[in-house]
Amino acid sequence: MCANIFGDFAGSEIFKDERFLYPEYIPEKLPFREAQIAEIAHALKPALRGAKPQNLFICGKSGTGKTVTAKYVLRELEEHTSKAKGIYINCFEYNTRNAILNKLCLSLGRPVPRRGIATDEVYAELLNALKRTNMVPIVVLDEVDQLAGNNTASLLLYDLLRITEFQQAYIGIIMISNLCEIVAMLDSRVRSSLAGTTIEFQPYAPEQLKQILRERAKYAFFENALEADVINLAAAYAAKHNGDARIAIESLLIAGRLAERENAKKLTVAHLRKAFEQIKPRPLQKAAPYLDEHEKCLLSILCEKEKLFSGQLYKIYSERVSEPITERSYRKKLNRLAELKLINIKDVTEGIRGRTREITLAQPKKAIEEILRGNSTGGDSNSCKKI
Ligand SMILES: Nc1ncnc2c1ncn2[C@@H]1O[C@H](COP(=O)(O)OP(=O)(O)OP(=O)(O)O)[C@@H](O)[C@H]1O
Ligand SMILES: [Mg+2]
Repeated sequence: MCANIFGDFAGSEIFKDERFLYPEYIPEKLPFREAQIAEIAHALKPALRGAKPQNLFICGKSGTGKTVTAKYVLRELEEHTSKAKGIYINCFEYNTRNAILNKLCLSLGRPVPRRGIATDEVYAELLNALKRTNMVPIVVLDEVDQLAGNNTASLLLYDLLRITEFQQAYIGIIMISNLCEIVAMLDSRVRSSLAGTTIEFQPYAPEQLKQILRERAKYAFFENALEADVINLAAAYAAKHNGDARIAIESLLIAGRLAERENAKKLTVAHLRKAFEQIKPRPLQKAAPYLDEHEKCLLSILCEKEKLFSGQLYKIYSERVSEPITERSYRKKLNRLAELKLINIKDVTEGIRGRTREITLAQPKKAIEEILRGNSTGGDSNSCKKI
């Protein structure tokens, strides 16, 4: 007889529907972001008449609701009118000018092959697409600082602004970043034609986090599934970590799953404390899906050795993989990993060899190892074998 590996299926006593806690879920209400929603809506309003929306720059720390607020407004806009179309782009995923122009063409129903087509041709295709559509695209460039390397952001924004200035086609641009100073770093021509408004999102206060959590928990959990202090503790913990709502919501989700796994009747403070330990630092969470095998290999070596000079790391890497990248590409990769806040690079003087760079991990080793293993406890974190 087969063992019943799923146990008795009596249904969960904890979750009514855990999807209300998923990071991609857009709630019906966003408490404490009403003013920001109104300001974004106001900037986009001209699009409803087929006119030119105002560009926006949204900045603030992690978990302050920048992404969810932008998506919320795009959803409302599309429900309200067929004259505007929201195009959401995560610049971790699309991080070159060509890739973004491609994605815009695709979103406007004019797909172009991803390879072998020059940027100018993709741009011409985008213009064609814009002339044929009677909708104003609202382009959200989330994590726009990812485009800062190689001046990509400036060039891309210049492309988009040119459309509005010279082609009688309108496009709205909403840029989002953790770094409020990023606009100042753009090319001055771009900066002056962007002429947008900046909205800074402030971290949530403990009381605000409590209310946000109560609202989300109401839909996600059964009544009485949470022990009395759970919401307060999750809110206090998130408040201590820069008022980051994501930490609060994610810890409830993880804790709920732990409670279910134990067939517990209630989600307790003990479950929640265990959940806190499992939350990955945000830079790691953001970058993990987009790391290539070479970057993973370099990180796995650093997990073993903790501190290496740049040359030593390259030597070990070259010995471990069958097709190493060139030293020049390697240096670029190191810079990218540093930009992603996954490693620290320190200029040091090393004996007779003079100046060199010392590389260390910038995030907890355990969390990096888990990411390299693909989030599970089993598996292998040595990613070099795959190259
Ligand atoms: N006012 C709110 N009401 C309900 N949920 C919220 C609110 N603000 C944020 N959240 C939730 O908190 C989590 C983090 O929000 P979001 O992803 O928008 O943060 P962010 O500012 O974009 O952070 P990052 O800079 O790290 O990308 C998401 O699950 C989001 O749904
Ligand atoms: Mg975000």
